[in-house]
Amino acid sequence: MKILMVCLGNICRSPMAEGILREKVRIAGLDWEIDSAGTESYHVGEAPHPLARKVARLHGIDISGLRARRMTKSDFGYFDKIYAMATDVCEEMQAIGRQEMDMQKVDLLLNLLYPGENRSVPDPWYGTEPDFHSVYTLLDSACSKMVASYVQAAGS
Ligand code: 4NP
Repeated sequence: MKILMVCLGNICRSPMAEGILREKVRIAGLDWEIDSAGTESYHVGEAPHPLARKVARLHGIDISGLRARRMTKSDFGYFDKIYAMATDVCEEMQAIGRQEMDMQKVDLLLNLLYPGENRSVPDPWYGTEPDFHSVYTLLDSACSKMVASYVQAAGS
């Protein structure tokens, strides 16, 4: 399984989601490929936001080696599943993907927790540390659900 997590800048939400999912997949012993990207290019090449790194580290997850990249059209072919962090991210993805965007592969991450509600992970860019903790909690719950559902389906 190849999974891509997508937000706007690829420095707050999606790198945290990438780090969290990598850890859960490692613990579950699954051979998945996980990556993240942003729909915008303002932060390309940068490490995750200091508070994203700090909050992940408090949970034993090191995301300091990740570097922001912009999503490309070819990501729609390569990945099996693409999770957008928010509805505005989904709209930007449509502009990048155009006819390559396979809607079967794309979903909002929080639809794993709240099916059909199209909720967004709040953008913590202008926020403070508590906002990054809330984002972490949401991402952690969604990634747990993803792995648990997969393991359950694989075993049945
Ligand atoms: P992210 O957060 O999409 O979770 O990485 C943002 C990071 C940067 C900006 C917006 C959101 N920005 O406007 O620079």
